[in-house]
Amino acid sequence: MLLSVEDLHVHFPLGRGQVVRAVDGVSFGIGRGETLGLVGESGCGKSTTGRAILRLVPATRGRVMFDGRDVFALGTGELRALRRRMQIVFQDPFASLSPRLSVGQIVSEPLEIHGVGGAPRERDEKVAALLDSVGLPREASRRFPHEFSGGQRQRIGIARALALDPDLILLDEPVSALDISVRAQVVNLLQDLQERRGIAYLFVGHDLSLIRHVAHRVAVMYLGRIVEIAPAHALYADPRHPYTRSLLLAVPVPDPARRRERAPLEGDPPSPIDIPSGCRFRTRCPHAQEICAREDPPLVPVLGADGQVRPEHLSACHFANSLPVWNNATNPEGPQPAVPSR
Ligand SMILES: Nc1ncnc2c1ncn2[C@@H]1O[C@H](COP(=O)(O)OP(=O)(O)OP(=O)(O)O)[C@@H](O)[C@H]1O
Ligand SMILES: [Mg+2]
Repeated sequence: MLLSVEDLHVHFPLGRGQVVRAVDGVSFGIGRGETLGLVGESGCGKSTTGRAILRLVPATRGRVMFDGRDVFALGTGELRALRRRMQIVFQDPFASLSPRLSVGQIVSEPLEIHGVGGAPRERDEKVAALLDSVGLPREASRRFPHEFSGGQRQRIGIARALALDPDLILLDEPVSALDISVRAQVVNLLQDLQERRGIAYLFVGHDLSLIRHVAHRVAVMYLGRIVEIAPAHALYADPRHPYTRSLLLAVPVPDPARRRERAPLEGDPPSPIDIPSGCRFRTRCPHAQEICAREDPPLVPVLGADGQVRPEHLSACHFANSLPVWNNATNPEGPQPAVPSR
């Protein structure tokens, strides 16, 4: 694993004994060149997870290993070196680029900060090559962010993130702020860059149909925890957490013939200041039983239809192995074989 996150907690004290448990025991890994999608409703802790990994917010507890190094134990110098290898691209390409700097300055800034890229001539060449790799003309380097469209600005942000040749990029809703028409182009660019450079992505998003398209594995987050994690095909074909199912049912289906009765998630999630006992999803769960209020279900491998453990597919639900067969219009494979209960 390139990155491994173990039992990460990020709590924000609010005073008067109140604590926001934004990230509350999250564990996952990302391999080299792999994309892990991280999905969940607004406020479930996706950005905070990413920011804690990069040490942009302090973790309360837990461990992050990056290429064999303990990220939280690094000194200032080592952290600087590490920052070259882990980059971040934000959602809003308008707010995240400094308006007073030219595109050339924006893209070359990381090279300057880290004292790499050589003499000015060489650096200009490097910037031109970076712009080229994200599909922008080299003349763009003399212009300013406001002269570009949203999609182009996001390309500038990506070029900047690529400047130091990172191993991992945290993509925090990188296309959510863009017009639908340019989303696919930016997503394709990201996939191209991954293939050519072997970069790993932590791809944070709301849009499950987009994540399905880009991620090798998907982690579903609810109220500060990962409640299900699996290879993308398994998660969409055979989701084993009621929350994942609710999210999938909320995905709009374009073909009216395949539209079925929707069972969207009711209401808002509980506050991360006051997390329910036992299973944190139980207050909105259609399958909740008495045990769910008492026992916090661990994230453990599910059983396949053949009764064998599927080590790559984990769910934190007491009833992960006895949920009704998943047969949703979003699942083009149709009904899956019945799954025996534990
Ligand atoms: N600095 C902070 N102080 C207090 N609470 C915070 C702070 N940062 C985040 N939070 C809270 O932590 C929770 C998780 O926030 P976070 O931004 O990680 O969610 P998210 O999943 O990225 O949401 P979105 O999809 O809206 O971007 C939220 O309840 C948020 O209000
Ligand atoms: Mg966020």
